[in-house]
Amino acid sequence: MTQTTALRARTLRAASATALLLALCVGATHAQNTPQAPGPKPWQDRTLSPDQRASLLDKELTVDERLGLLHGPMAIPFFPGMKLPEGAIGSAGYIAGVPRLGIPAQQESDASLGVTNPGNVRPGDTATALPSSLLLAATFNTDLAYKGGVVVGQEARSRGINVQLAGGVNLVRDPRGGRNFEYAGEDPLLAGHIAGAAIKGIQSQNLIATMKHFAVNDQETGRNFANSVISEAAMRESDLLAFQIAHEVGQPGSVMCAYNLVNGAYACGNDFLLNKVLKTDWGFKGYVMSDWGAVKATDFALKGLDQQSGEQLDKQVWFGDPLKAAVQTGAVPASRVSDMSRRILRSMFAAGLFDAPLAVNVDRAANAEVSRQTAAEGIVLLKNEGNLLPLAASAKTILVVGGHADAGVLSGGGSSQVTADAAQIALPVGGEGMMAAFNRMNFHPSSPLKALKERLPQTTVRFDTGRYAAEAARKAKEADLVIVFANQWMAEGDDAPDLSLPNGQDALIAALAEANPKTVVVLQTGGAVAMPWLKQTPAVVEAWYSGDRGGEAIADVLTGKVNPSGHLPVTFPTAITQYPRADLPGLGLPDGQVFDVRYDEGSDVGYRRFAALGQKALFPFGHGLSYTTFAYSDVKVTGGDTLSVSFKVTNTGSVRGKDAPQVYLNRRPNGPAKRLIAFSKVDLAPGQSTTVTLSADMRLLSRFDAKAQKWVQPAGRYEITVAQDAEDTGLTASAQMKAATRKP
Ligand code: BGC
Repeated sequence: MTQTTALRARTLRAASATALLLALCVGATHAQNTPQAPGPKPWQDRTLSPDQRASLLDKELTVDERLGLLHGPMAIPFFPGMKLPEGAIGSAGYIAGVPRLGIPAQQESDASLGVTNPGNVRPGDTATALPSSLLLAATFNTDLAYKGGVVVGQEARSRGINVQLAGGVNLVRDPRGGRNFEYAGEDPLLAGHIAGAAIKGIQSQNLIATMKHFAVNDQETGRNFANSVISEAAMRESDLLAFQIAHEVGQPGSVMCAYNLVNGAYACGNDFLLNKVLKTDWGFKGYVMSDWGAVKATDFALKGLDQQSGEQLDKQVWFGDPLKAAVQTGAVPASRVSDMSRRILRSMFAAGLFDAPLAVNVDRAANAEVSRQTAAEGIVLLKNEGNLLPLAASAKTILVVGGHADAGVLSGGGSSQVTADAAQIALPVGGEGMMAAFNRMNFHPSSPLKALKERLPQTTVRFDTGRYAAEAARKAKEADLVIVFANQWMAEGDDAPDLSLPNGQDALIAALAEANPKTVVVLQTGGAVAMPWLKQTPAVVEAWYSGDRGGEAIADVLTGKVNPSGHLPVTFPTAITQYPRADLPGLGLPDGQVFDVRYDEGSDVGYRRFAALGQKALFPFGHGLSYTTFAYSDVKVTGGDTLSVSFKVTNTGSVRGKDAPQVYLNRRPNGPAKRLIAFSKVDLAPGQSTTVTLSADMRLLSRFDAKAQKWVQPAGRYEITVAQDAEDTGLTASAQMKAATRKP
């Protein structure tokens, strides 16, 4: 092209874009100036689909109104002197509405564990604090995930929040991940179904849920500069599959793109992730919002981003004047801008933001009960030698040590931190960096010590803070039994440097176990930790972050009022060297320096890689003990088009209990492959049996063929195991399957 023709082409492009913009302005000005006919507007017709209504309403918007829907600020006074935008109720973010057309403002709040109150922006406002999402995943119970979603949705809506930034689906690829507690584990099937059900529950209350952080945002170290390097096939079979399933189950109105880069492009400006995978392949009809401060340029709009959130954290309000200018020059087509606002309006219609009455009844007592039930079902009994648990009523003295168990239960930090009750204890974490001033170690005021005392009126229950190991050990010798609480506080923005328990707690546990062989360890951690003292401690309970009724739930499990039924949604390794990246990529690098995180393990995340390498975990994925025992029998597998498995589960012990039977693929025609392909949760009285029938999603039997752009399931024999965990040899059977393919 000669210079003149290039210039002419550019001028033409600009001219036609300007003409389009003018046409939009003229149309909109006309809409604005023409007196609106009285009576119902076409987009108010509830018999029309959300798509139709959104298109009708979008046409009424002026350019500025349209752009106004595409960006907004944080709605917390984060910076000195910052004021809340007018109309904002105070929460993570705010997008102004268009009152003339009855378009409500978007009031966005975090997160999956409940409605947060960052910086006490709504003075004194408290909400139900659900247990961590990792604990929720440990329930293996999608009904509980849905119920928790209803709690969050209802409490959000009652405050005028209409977009809940909830639905964390990132896979736990590293046990040190700072946000692992906000996610639903290392397996795509489990994570997808748990997060999907939670999203569905939230949206049942007429608001938008936001599935996040899309995608491969699997470490916090250098989260704004980490470039996740992973092949398309590996991504589709792991991280993306979790999101895909959650999308299918939950139909979220919104998706939040992540901070990191994926294969060289920022996740929020990633054409492959947003335009191809999400919008084209999966048919996502909602809108993509950025994570707070994750937008780098106006052309992210072309890459699939629809809305810029928390815009003060970005260099510019890219989706304001710069986007308007980009439309004028033709760099961004006006039709794309219309698509962006239409998608937002479509989700608002689909969620019922225009139609559903605002008033909702919130029953905080009932919600607290959901929180307690979830905790009770997600706490995992890892070890119970000699049936030390449940606590024998004969114990005369119990010494409880550490973990601030007298005050409450630990919760995770960062944007998902819920203020459960005004009385909660918040200890400043300190340190350096931007987050140092904000980080608080919060304890929900549900004291396990108090709950234990209530449940064991005949026992003398004493408490030692655990500050001095020798002194605690001296007291431990005098007690019949010791329960030590060990805490690992995790928060957004930082990964744990290793798998140890901080502040000398490993040494404290070892000292206690030496002083008293009947030492029970209760872990309150963000995820997996190493247990150098494991051989000396007969009983270990993983309580995660157990939410605002956690103390009661922990005491119920310890005393046997609740029979534990949680199962690990992540592998607990013996050492970090069992993982592909023993040194955390990016650790110590200056801000701004982009670095690679190579996911060379591909789709073999967690237990899948342990199986491929023949590694034994400290506790495998899926592991969880009960005070009763379960047996599996009568396994039948049918193949052909769909792989279906049926089997009998029997409670062979003497107390009622819940089991989470798991079905794994072991081998497919082209070789071994460990994959969770189905799971269930059953509740059985002693001696009772039930037959469970489950079928496998073909994507878990297949490989993704990136070249052909499809899932490919070769014909042949598929071997499966009905098992109690990923390492259990269980009951094995196989079926002959037909060849099959499926679109991405
Ligand atoms: C987090 C998001 C959160 C947002 C708004 C970001 O820092 O990554 O998960 O929704 O802040 O608070």
